[in-house]
Amino acid sequence: MTARASLAVPIPETARAPAHGLRRAEPCTLVILGAGDLLHRKLMPSLFHLMGDGLLPDDFAVITMAREPMDDDAFRAAVGHSLQIFGPNGRAGLDQERWSRFATRLHYVSGELDDATTYVALRQRLAEADATLPAGSGHLFYLAIPPSLYAATIARLNESGIAPRVPDPKQRPWVRIIIEKPFGRSLKSACELNACVRRAFAEHQVYRIDHYLGKETVQNLLVFRFANSIFEPEWNRQHVHHVQITAAESVGVEHRGKYYEEAGVVRDMFQNHLLQLLTLTAMEPPVTFSADAVRDEKVKVLRAIRPITPAVMHDYAVRGQYGPGTINGTPVPGYRQEPFVAPDSATPTYCAIRFMIDNWRWQDVPFYLRSGKRMPRRATEIAIQFRKPPHVMFPLSEGETIEPNTLALRVQPKEGIALRFEVKVPGVEVKMASVDMDFGYAEAFGDQDHDAYETLLLDCMLGEATLFTRSDEVEAAWSVVDPIIDFWAGKRPDHFPNYPAGSWGPTVADEFIAREGAKWREP
Ligand code: BG6
Repeated sequence: MTARASLAVPIPETARAPAHGLRRAEPCTLVILGAGDLLHRKLMPSLFHLMGDGLLPDDFAVITMAREPMDDDAFRAAVGHSLQIFGPNGRAGLDQERWSRFATRLHYVSGELDDATTYVALRQRLAEADATLPAGSGHLFYLAIPPSLYAATIARLNESGIAPRVPDPKQRPWVRIIIEKPFGRSLKSACELNACVRRAFAEHQVYRIDHYLGKETVQNLLVFRFANSIFEPEWNRQHVHHVQITAAESVGVEHRGKYYEEAGVVRDMFQNHLLQLLTLTAMEPPVTFSADAVRDEKVKVLRAIRPITPAVMHDYAVRGQYGPGTINGTPVPGYRQEPFVAPDSATPTYCAIRFMIDNWRWQDVPFYLRSGKRMPRRATEIAIQFRKPPHVMFPLSEGETIEPNTLALRVQPKEGIALRFEVKVPGVEVKMASVDMDFGYAEAFGDQDHDAYETLLLDCMLGEATLFTRSDEVEAAWSVVDPIIDFWAGKRPDHFPNYPAGSWGPTVADEFIAREGAKWREP
């Protein structure tokens, strides 16, 4: 039996108020290359929200550069339209006063990325924007373009003098560049891209984005582990039986079939988001909360992950692909029926991997990571399952077992932390039940409703790189997943699709975890 107890958490009034003024960005111009989905759904709403919270500087400009011919007014109208859909108030409408203030900061340059004249025009617009800002204002470049164009665009921005190398982080004006995921599609291509980035910029100028690192609970994992003293003594092989990290999505590949066919779930979710969650869960306490100290510890975890060789692959990883099924009562097509997907596609949309971390803290503790599309619901969580008590003195009825303690950190939705433990059921008999002590962010702090991109954009403007992936980290993550991707690339699955949409994945994944005496949670 499982019951749910709510945890009364007194929240100080000061904690409810946004920290206005504390982290306000310096005057700068943001240059966004590309005006697709990312710009309309994430970047513009995030900037608009940041401005509403008073976190953008008064001296701030945005220049968007994209292919479609358009003037500033047409671009502003397009952004206004998307803010009505994806902005803070959604369809309830835009706050007109705030919108007018925001719109005047938006500028547009049209051109092809491979045309030198585009960069002349961009340079001109940047100079015009600079003239309206205080001397020494920073320049932040955001590559919101297809990854195949990253290397050439970085070289052009750099060679044209628009985005020069700035060796000293204290030098003004600062120049920074944000590179979206996927950063490469293998270790080799990631190393090549890193080499190209290094030719153009110093590492402190480069912000490789993984939007999971901007999520509230992901950051809170560090606070939870290292600002409390009661959990850390348990956080090791003596007490932890295994760790489960789940990123389940109810959506399918939507309109991204072309990209997904090339990517698959391991590149799309494991190389970045899931390995980030793993490193933050497993890392040693950094000496300081500074970008390099935190990233040094994360890299050590990635390097300690036991390599998965072809001979043992089936013990460490299973894959799946969704077939037609039902989600929330609605029939949905299988992956092979999605637009731009081959009718005999071998691309995995589900994967479960057991990672072993060969170090003193985690020796013999499996970390099970899984992610899948078209699962019953959207749920991302990190669950630490502790060992069972070594001896149970209470009488158990036939077939009854004692449930191990579990600490679940819910990343989304309904961010929170739940601790499951055993209690006595009231009554004359000694009967046990599992209960959850549950802390919900929304209940404690109110619905803050801010997107990961807000945190990340602001951090870039502030020059705070802790939540971004360093070059050695991205390469170490590729070294972990490359052997799995390569192994599967050479073996066409004859069993796809192997899970219906709306289920928790293929049965091979259940058998896979059961071999180790564990069971998947249903978050
Ligand atoms: C993206 C992947 O990086 O993350 C998508 O490309 C995935 O396939 C998305 O749907 C998940 O992000 P979130 O924030 O919705 O969990």
